[in-house]
Amino acid sequence: MAAYKVVLTKETWPAAMTRIEQHCEVKLWKEAEPIPRKLLLEWVKDAEGLLCAGDIQVDEELLTHAPGLRVVAQSMVGYDNIDIDACTRRGIPFGNTPGVLVEATADLTFALLLSAARRIHECWDFVRSGNWGSDARPPYGVDLFGKTLGIVGMGDIGSAVARRARASGLNIIYYNRSKRMDDTLLEARYVDFSELLEESDFIICLVPLSNRSRGMFGAAEFARMKPSAYFINAARGAIVNTVALYEALKSKQIAYAALDVTDPEPISGDHPLLSLPNILITPHVGSATYETRNRMADLAADNLLAGLLRQALPTCVNASVNYSLGAI
Ligand code: DGY
Repeated sequence: MAAYKVVLTKETWPAAMTRIEQHCEVKLWKEAEPIPRKLLLEWVKDAEGLLCAGDIQVDEELLTHAPGLRVVAQSMVGYDNIDIDACTRRGIPFGNTPGVLVEATADLTFALLLSAARRIHECWDFVRSGNWGSDARPPYGVDLFGKTLGIVGMGDIGSAVARRARASGLNIIYYNRSKRMDDTLLEARYVDFSELLEESDFIICLVPLSNRSRGMFGAAEFARMKPSAYFINAARGAIVNTVALYEALKSKQIAYAALDVTDPEPISGDHPLLSLPNILITPHVGSATYETRNRMADLAADNLLAGLLRQALPTCVNASVNYSLGAI
């Protein structure tokens, strides 16, 4: 394989990096903050491959600066930072990393629900502060068993969360763009969005960010939820109107929120949301296990290397411009 010119906007995992370096001349941005746009546009001028991780916008401007690009790969399942139509217009296949992160992300999502419902992090604070054994009562939680979980976005991760929820005795309803044919197997009932908002004791948001889902949870949606509702977002921060969520939590219109994603992201330590007692936030770590992040890096490298060879990307989002198997 020739030494293809590639740009990596973030460090990847060692096994994936070794494979990429065997075949490519790499420009790698190693700093913690995102690569400055001006430098990125300079770097991609002669790039044949681009590997990113949600840290840059791949848009018309970038693609215009990168006339030699054969492939864009991203080590994430989400691709709201990628202009897929613009890639397709230029015949550039884009590969993401679906599948390999499903179970880890479902674990974290369900852990948020459990941790919020049973106040695990607050109980730990209680013990750490030396309150165990004092007159103070430890934080109490709420039952899961027999309650209703509403899943918004019943894709692979939603189904994996549903599996975990069934084992905890939750009744599951879901809202999706369309009813799933296999929802009897999932033991989940398809409902419309309003019914889900009104009936659920726990609501989990797992829809991808798109023009359709941006701001999907705002003041009107929180107003329809039960005052005892728990709201969990493990998808993208911008699906939720942060000000409306803050108001709903502060006024106890809903009981609690647990978020793995925020808008803005990262959220600063002095953001008003963080001052509330009824919230739990993790730093977008849905897929962050050693095993899963390695699998994501491997799959992203597979996509990148296949595209450089003009061979079919294993997981291509814009299939109409994917290379055919074995093409030169
Ligand atoms: C993804 O892959 O889109 C996740 O949000 C990353 O953790």
